[in-house]
Amino acid sequence: MKFQASELPLGKPQSRRSKTSKLAPLIALTILLTIPLYYPTIRDSSKKLSDTSHVFEESLDEPIIKPTSHLETPPPEITKIGGDVAAEDHREPPPAAARKKHHEKGRKKRTRKPQTDSVIAQREEINNNDKTQITITSSRGDIRSRLLDDEKCDLFSGEWVPNPEGPYYTNDTCNAIQEHQNCLKFGRPDRGFLKWKWKPDDCELPVFDPTRFLELVRGKSIAFVGDSVARNHMQSLICLLSRVANPVDLSGPLDQNKRYEYREHDFNISMFWAPYLVKTSKTDPNDEKRPFKLYLDEFDDHWTTRIALFDYVIISAGHWFFRPTYFYLNSTLVGCLYCPESNVNHLTSYFSYRRAFRTAFRAINAANFNGVAFLRTYAPSHFEGAAWDKGGDCARTRPYGRNEVVLEDYSLEMYLIQLEELRIAQKAGRRTGGRFRLFDATRAMLLRPDGHPSKYGHWPVANQTFANDCVHWCLPGPIDSWNDFLQELLKREIGESR
Ligand SMILES: *[C@@H]1O[C@H](CO)[C@@H](O)[C@H](O)[C@H]1NC(C)=O
Ligand SMILES: *[C@@H]1O[C@H](CO)[C@@H](O)[C@H](O)[C@H]1NC(C)=O
Ligand SMILES: *[C@@H]1O[C@H](CO)[C@@H](O)[C@H](O)[C@H]1NC(C)=O
Ligand SMILES: *[C@@H]1O[C@H](CO)[C@@H](O)[C@H](O)[C@H]1NC(C)=O
Repeated sequence: MKFQASELPLGKPQSRRSKTSKLAPLIALTILLTIPLYYPTIRDSSKKLSDTSHVFEESLDEPIIKPTSHLETPPPEITKIGGDVAAEDHREPPPAAARKKHHEKGRKKRTRKPQTDSVIAQREEINNNDKTQITITSSRGDIRSRLLDDEKCDLFSGEWVPNPEGPYYTNDTCNAIQEHQNCLKFGRPDRGFLKWKWKPDDCELPVFDPTRFLELVRGKSIAFVGDSVARNHMQSLICLLSRVANPVDLSGPLDQNKRYEYREHDFNISMFWAPYLVKTSKTDPNDEKRPFKLYLDEFDDHWTTRIALFDYVIISAGHWFFRPTYFYLNSTLVGCLYCPESNVNHLTSYFSYRRAFRTAFRAINAANFNGVAFLRTYAPSHFEGAAWDKGGDCARTRPYGRNEVVLEDYSLEMYLIQLEELRIAQKAGRRTGGRFRLFDATRAMLLRPDGHPSKYGHWPVANQTFANDCVHWCLPGPIDSWNDFLQELLKREIGESR
């Protein structure tokens, strides 16, 4: 399969490096004053780029093909916030205001930020039975427990454990691996990252069983709605199923929307390309890289009018929201992200992210959809050492242990926004019959800095440097576990309705 580079999302401008710019605190302050944010203390002693980075020497004796750069040229860097701060890279996430080094494990700690709004997420780490539990307390963090079914095991709290059986397919056995995720083909030297599986704390998560899965979904259809990470997930599913069946592919190689039919199993998969979930238009119809206009309160009827035909919808969105964009409400321009205009309100990604989910969920509630909608939550990227466009890389070869990293900064905020909007949708669903479920990929993927293509999404090209891909996931790779989750989630749904 081949896809146009233009359809792929911009890499998340994430970096573990602390900001050195003198302007950074000013920007952070500006952002802190405009939106409620809480930056918990991070424990970053483990996050220094380790000296394993040298293992990824580029080998130039490989055949050279023209790579498709999935991480595009960054947008113009000049923007203004509050009129005073210019020429800083605003695509960087806001630096953590309360960043602190911390070398002891399991020590109870608590950090409070000055309240900029009544809604503050406060996180505590509680040393409990030798395992550090990450609990998000306060009105915001409580939401997660309310989204989970008390009667059932929380599949998403756990850790990665060794799995010598993995992987369950390779680049040679699955032809659905998109080039820029085909890490084995492009010479990734290590294989350890393929040998882990997710272990929930309170139960087992069976690994994906293709035969069983196809029995489970007979007579059903699944739609993925989202961006290239959603497609990454779908391709993982197709690869895992390839051991027993291959679908009829009804889509053209360059189609952004996909349709696969497993005719013998009466099971269909569709992908609706909707990186912003809502109605959009291009500021330049011929150039995908130019900022999009987002109509944040309007449905994207391309998918919303078709969704009622499906049994399951897996909805997700993420990294595109960090791109320059114009925001419309009621057809009126209300703000923008990284636009050059000084007479437009400069707002944040959080503004558009929240409204996009609210509108997407409203569309599902309005669609007479009798199936189940899963929110697959934000999957953090893992650029280390520098920003994504300044040479930042993800060169690790092992997962983090559960105590080595915490969800923080904008990843925490994006995640909380998703949980809050899911909760709102669930409440509305009580009237409409809409069923909304949490598919919490965030925690598991936070722990997988080793799962990205990095430089192994294409062949190296002499005298050319490409941004490393620390956003998508290698196939095979840790994203395969999303289908372990999916199998279990569907089993619960189907078990329930029988
Ligand atoms: C799969 O990857 C291996 C290297 O691990 C490579 O030799 C082989 O050509 C690749 N196969 C395909 C079909 O890309
Ligand atoms: C799958 O798609 C085919 C062709 O559109 C359709 O006939 C069939 O009913 C679909 N099956 C399911 C389970 O949706
Ligand atoms: C939306 O815009 C229309 C006309 O542009 C206006 O009449 C209407 O009051 C607006 N609605 C809201 C909720 O602002
Ligand atoms: C790469 O750069 C070197 C030195 O600047 C030059 O000699 C060589 O021709 C360049 N190769 C390509 C493929 O452009």
